[in-house]
Amino acid sequence: MTKDRVTVASPATLSNLGSGFDVFGLALNEPFDVVDARRTSERGVVIDGIEGRGAESITRDSARNSAGAAALAVLEGANADFGIALTIKKGIRPCSGIGSSGASAAGGAYAANLLLDDPLPLEEVVRCAAQAEQVTSGSFHADNVGPAVMGGLTIVKSYEPFRILRMDVPDDFGVVVTMPDVLVDTKEARKALPTEVPLKSMVFEVGNAASLVLGMCRGDIALIGDSMRDIVVEPARASLNPHLLEAEQAARAAGAAGAFLGGSGPCMIAIYDRSVGDGRAIASAVRDVYASNGIGSDTWITHAGQGCRRL
Ligand code: HSE
Repeated sequence: MTKDRVTVASPATLSNLGSGFDVFGLALNEPFDVVDARRTSERGVVIDGIEGRGAESITRDSARNSAGAAALAVLEGANADFGIALTIKKGIRPCSGIGSSGASAAGGAYAANLLLDDPLPLEEVVRCAAQAEQVTSGSFHADNVGPAVMGGLTIVKSYEPFRILRMDVPDDFGVVVTMPDVLVDTKEARKALPTEVPLKSMVFEVGNAASLVLGMCRGDIALIGDSMRDIVVEPARASLNPHLLEAEQAARAAGAAGAFLGGSGPCMIAIYDRSVGDGRAIASAVRDVYASNGIGSDTWITHAGQGCRRL
């Protein structure tokens, strides 16, 4: 039966997870964006409205808006003979490091796909959403939109040809997200990255990335946390993310199994075992680091979650 209207929740996501730059991504239970999509007889995509956190800074030009560009990529990919009007409710502030544009892109693509009579495969929906990431961040990366669409942990096996794999995350995988009152634009944060990596660094990154996946398979949160290390990307972005190292140290001292920079920043992510750890103690230790340096912050004590879901 043809659907005329759908509303979906699309989650925040962790990306990189230490050494998995542009490869690893993980869906969170909260926060999330809500995208409403309505069929229109005229082809193309229009944005009817944007509200919520940071809405005033987001373009309503559908070609440059992440939800709009993603929905259009799905309609074009499916050769649809109708258009879509979108309304976006932001639960995730832009420039956060937990996949704000990715959540909107995934929500736009997923909602558009639900309106199709013959939906595209999920991997193709992810590819359409990643195309929108290219529009907003200047690079085709799927480590936020992948888990936002598919849920759990996703691994971009390769970009060309595009192939993304999904796996489950242990039940007790707890996450403390601390978002300092600092804005980091992904486009700018990518400019800070080195273009070449020493072989020794590559060995370090691959060893940790492989160990992280093994930890996921075994349900070993200590091994996962210990593998969330990166000596290439995070240090290059340190100047954009004040007090990051102190915040990471404070999280570990308060019982976190691992800590890392969320995506391109500024969110600081701490991982803990919910069966033995105390997320509130970690959150408070990290908040204190920022507060003692005059920086306010928001916190979510959350866990791994599913991908886009229809409301
Ligand atoms: N992997 C990307 C980056 C994620 O670190 O630039 C951006 O959210």
